[in-house]
Amino acid sequence: MAGKTVITFGTYDLFHVGHLRLLQRARALGDRLVVGVSTDALNVSKKNFSPSIPQTDRIEIIRSLRCVDEAFFEESLELKGDYIRQFKADTLVMGHDWEGRFDHFRDLCEVAYLPRTEGISTTQIREDMIRRGFITYS
Ligand code: CTP
Repeated sequence: MAGKTVITFGTYDLFHVGHLRLLQRARALGDRLVVGVSTDALNVSKKNFSPSIPQTDRIEIIRSLRCVDEAFFEESLELKGDYIRQFKADTLVMGHDWEGRFDHFRDLCEVAYLPRTEGISTTQIREDMIRRGFITYS
């Protein structure tokens, strides 16, 4: 296939500029960017709570971005290798908070860890809203 495919994964809940910059930098590493958006069920099993924004809305936002060519639901953390093969990805991109954790995929594709944007995260936005009393945890 002509051109280089980059793949990355995330939840992208309460979409923010850190997400946008990561996706733009991932896209710049190749010719096509494919994004795995984790399902609500995967988040429940992994973090014990559901994202604020449902998966159908989160994937719609990701698909609408100019830097994203394709998006799909990531159903299980164990399937990353299968997704890499399915989309014929040349490069797997992860945030540097995952540094070293995906090196075993180097026999399938290149693995790049990109720096995160400082000072913003979904967790931080959620905690700020709770602190200000905009939302309560249930
Ligand atoms: N990301 C980033 N800079 C940030 C926040 C996220 O580059 N400030 C990247 C992550 O490294 C990941 C992608 O965006 O590659 C999706 O991140 P996700 O885990 O969905 O969002 P976070 O904001 O990190 O959410 P949380 O606070 O729940 O971990």
